[in-house]
Amino acid sequence: MEILLLLDLEIPTGCATALVRCGNCGRNPVPYPLSTGPNCGDQAYKIRCTAGALWFDALKGSYMIISINPMTQRIVLRPPNLLGNSCISSDISTQGIQLDDNLPFNITSSNTILLLNCTDAMFHLQAPINCTSTSICHYYIKDNAAACMRSPICCVFKTGGSQTAYVVRIHDRGCLAYQSFVNFDTVNPPKKWPQPGLEIEWALPLEPACKAPMDCKNLFHSKCLADPANVGTTRCLCNKGFTWDPVNGLCRSTKCRPGKRCKKQKKQIVLIGASCLDDKRQHRPSMKEVADEIEYIISLVAGEVSEK
Ligand SMILES: *[C@@H]1O[C@H](CO)[C@@H](O)[C@H](O)[C@H]1NC(C)=O
Ligand SMILES: *[C@@H]1O[C@H](CO)[C@@H](O)[C@H](O)[C@H]1NC(C)=O
Ligand SMILES: *[C@@H]1O[C@H](CO)[C@@H](O)[C@H](O)[C@H]1NC(C)=O
Repeated sequence: MEILLLLDLEIPTGCATALVRCGNCGRNPVPYPLSTGPNCGDQAYKIRCTAGALWFDALKGSYMIISINPMTQRIVLRPPNLLGNSCISSDISTQGIQLDDNLPFNITSSNTILLLNCTDAMFHLQAPINCTSTSICHYYIKDNAAACMRSPICCVFKTGGSQTAYVVRIHDRGCLAYQSFVNFDTVNPPKKWPQPGLEIEWALPLEPACKAPMDCKNLFHSKCLADPANVGTTRCLCNKGFTWDPVNGLCRSTKCRPGKRCKKQKKQIVLIGASCLDDKRQHRPSMKEVADEIEYIISLVAGEVSEK
């Protein structure tokens, strides 16, 4: 019994080369640092998994996630629909989308926003908002939003800059509806309108916060120490010879320069770490499997050490 318990305790340490990535949501992977629960990912990067779909909670209201790109730290959200047979966006009660500016997410500069059902007050606004009668929003209304023909003033602008970093606002003295497209760089109406999307991005995470040495057990090669960049906070800082990799959530050896042999080994360890976590999520491995796995990981780590 004692042996079983010991081995059981070994699982997290053995598997925890990288920080714990959250399990899939339905068929959607949840990359680090995004978090769908209290025991995985980074808690500053919460998203929601409901019935196999991922949702992003804005300051008020939620938006379905269409795609996530962990390499560019970008998420594409589904913009709101129009309410019933109207030209009013379904998020009018929250005046459009508003992100919490205390969180590490903001709206990227890759969105082209079509503002619909606008008042003529919009004509007083200067470039980069384009409310002319030739603006592509008129073609969008004709092709995709017949309800808006009854209120035909519309405008187009591109996101970017501090004004649109956290909000796309709609209200009754401006415009009552909007649509958004990512990387839509055409001045002429397209033959076929692409799938709408609103792109946001996340800032790369810092090392995870900690209160006690135990809190850092999942981040190999780290210790819970005072953060020199942030007085009064403690983080799992990577040991000497290792550097924080915020994309994969691990402490990476600085000895492994590109082109050296240890690079391949390093990759292997990342993969093992990931697959090991996958295993943990899917089934409880037999004791034999656990023992084999621990032995395998130990030998890999030993292999890396001998490369230095
Ligand atoms: C446009 O917005 C106004 C409120 O400003 C609303 O009364 C009107 O019904 C909307 N138009 C359409 C076609 O939904
Ligand atoms: C507004 O958009 C139209 C169509 O894309 C373009 O021809 C026009 O030059 C734009 N006007 C301004 C002020 O940018
Ligand atoms: C949005 O966040 C990214 C990543 O942290 C940052 O580089 C960019 O400056 C931010 N944009 C604005 C407008 O705040």
